[in-house]
Amino acid sequence: MRSRASGSAPPTRSRTQETRVNDDNPPGPPKRRSQSWFGRLDRDGFIYRSWLKNRGIPHDQFDGRPVIGICNTYSELTPCNSHFRTLADQVKTGVWEAGGFPLEFPVMSLGETMLRPTAMLFRNLASMDVEESIRGNPIDGVVLLMGCDKTTPALMMGAASVDLPTIGISGGPMLSGKFRGQELGSGTDVWKMSEEVRAGHMSQEDFFEAEGCMHRSHGHCMTMGTASTMACMVESLGMALPGNAAIPAVDGRRNILARASGRRIVQMVKDNLVMSKVLTREAFENAIKVNAAIGGSTNAVIHLLAIAGRIGVKLNLDDWDALGHALPCLVDLQPSGRHLMEDFYYAGGLPAVIRELGPLLNRDALTVNGNTLWDNCKDAPNWNREVIHAFDAPFKPHAGIAVLRGNLSPDGAVIKPSAATPALLKHTGRAVVFEDSEDMHRRLDDESLDVDEHCVLVLKNCGPRGYPGMAEAGNMPLPPKVLRKGITDMVRISDARMSGTAYGTVVLHVTPEAAAGGPLALVQNGDMVELDVEARKLHLHVSDEELARRRAAWQPPAPPMERGWTRLYFEHVQQANLGADMDFLVGKSGAAVPKDNH
Ligand code: FES
Repeated sequence: MRSRASGSAPPTRSRTQETRVNDDNPPGPPKRRSQSWFGRLDRDGFIYRSWLKNRGIPHDQFDGRPVIGICNTYSELTPCNSHFRTLADQVKTGVWEAGGFPLEFPVMSLGETMLRPTAMLFRNLASMDVEESIRGNPIDGVVLLMGCDKTTPALMMGAASVDLPTIGISGGPMLSGKFRGQELGSGTDVWKMSEEVRAGHMSQEDFFEAEGCMHRSHGHCMTMGTASTMACMVESLGMALPGNAAIPAVDGRRNILARASGRRIVQMVKDNLVMSKVLTREAFENAIKVNAAIGGSTNAVIHLLAIAGRIGVKLNLDDWDALGHALPCLVDLQPSGRHLMEDFYYAGGLPAVIRELGPLLNRDALTVNGNTLWDNCKDAPNWNREVIHAFDAPFKPHAGIAVLRGNLSPDGAVIKPSAATPALLKHTGRAVVFEDSEDMHRRLDDESLDVDEHCVLVLKNCGPRGYPGMAEAGNMPLPPKVLRKGITDMVRISDARMSGTAYGTVVLHVTPEAAAGGPLALVQNGDMVELDVEARKLHLHVSDEELARRRAAWQPPAPPMERGWTRLYFEHVQQANLGADMDFLVGKSGAAVPKDNH
């Protein structure tokens, strides 16, 4: 061990000084937050440095250079993020090259395909892990490695509550699925093939073979599902380097981007370019517009509301309708189109879409590379107009989210009209009610179910509290007796979410949810339900007196678990129109450590 006298660490500053660094973005040159650990000459400084030296960290690494935390969601239980060790190594190289000191740390990883009852139940829990891991450690800047659906909002939310200089890197989509000369898209084609097996048109052996053909490389789902949508949101918010959203996971350029991001975060620390300077109201407005232009997932509504709530930007459900509804979809990608993310990247990726939106965007919104969003994208090339359409010759008109209100959804519900059947956007039908997802699975295939194609399928108790975790159950399968008539769509209404790979005339996120006592809980079989998307109306044709009578008889559900996270979630999760964040997690606490006594 070196003596203190020979050490090169700078003198200790007071704790009060140290713990305020970056807390309120003070003017003047940035001070290194990490120096309140590594810059100390006392016993605690010995401990902070000494334990790290067991990894061969030389003493000069503690000299005040930016310490960069690499927040890694690698897990073998999150197959979409299974290449993140390699990606983290690229980031580290970039950090070293720029004169920083990288330290990688794991956080809870949420594998969409594995986690039960739904990964969404744990998004807020993972965000707490991220927030406290950043705040409690000697970190000056953060790199977020994100991929599978919920890992992106969880990391963005947690980091926003600390508000250090932060840069996002998405894991990138998988290569396009290939099966017997046909392209296979994540999710979307799973639903199709499983129906073919049920109908006897596809053998079980072929079904097994298709598994290896659909997901044949590292990366997240390669349709414009939730993961790709959220990667686009990160880029359009300005939180990642240009091109981040679409580079395939196994393309060498993904590694180059990771390395460049590692270099860039070091400079961001020196410039004190904290997250809140990028995540402005203008940035969220841009993201909402981009979501329309890419035909993005309805899940982005909930996640962006939650991220905005953390960073302190006022954003509400109606902003989605006001800002995005009239915009066209420019991108012909599954599930609403034909192509896949690999094609999207080769066509020019998100910068080409942003260029098309041009004057509609807040062009001066700052991004993590220090340029404005417009500076980054104004000259972006478009190599394939079949994949990325021109604004004046769009793939679909009016692609944004519509927000519905009425006595069935006083606090709002959402529908993606571009994914719906136009003739059903104004429809009144008889309700066929399922009390929860188990009830739906039990009765939907029953030939005695009193249903026809004019009915409205209503699913309750799949919201944040009801499921719990807000399942992706909103795109209910159609009853077989309806399918046999060749009908492919019906109006479906629920407090659930919907997979980003799904489509149909599906009203989602009905708020308040049934389990919170919303009017959805009071709907009964035979009630008439009116959907009028143009009028933004969702109405239950039942008198106020009758609804009051039903409400008096309604019993709130018991907590699904007596203890643990699920109990805490049940008691504190907010409704979908507020982003389904926990009430006690909204906002940020900054980077200050309340007590730093070792
Ligand atoms: Fe991970 Fe689709 S399962 S992104």
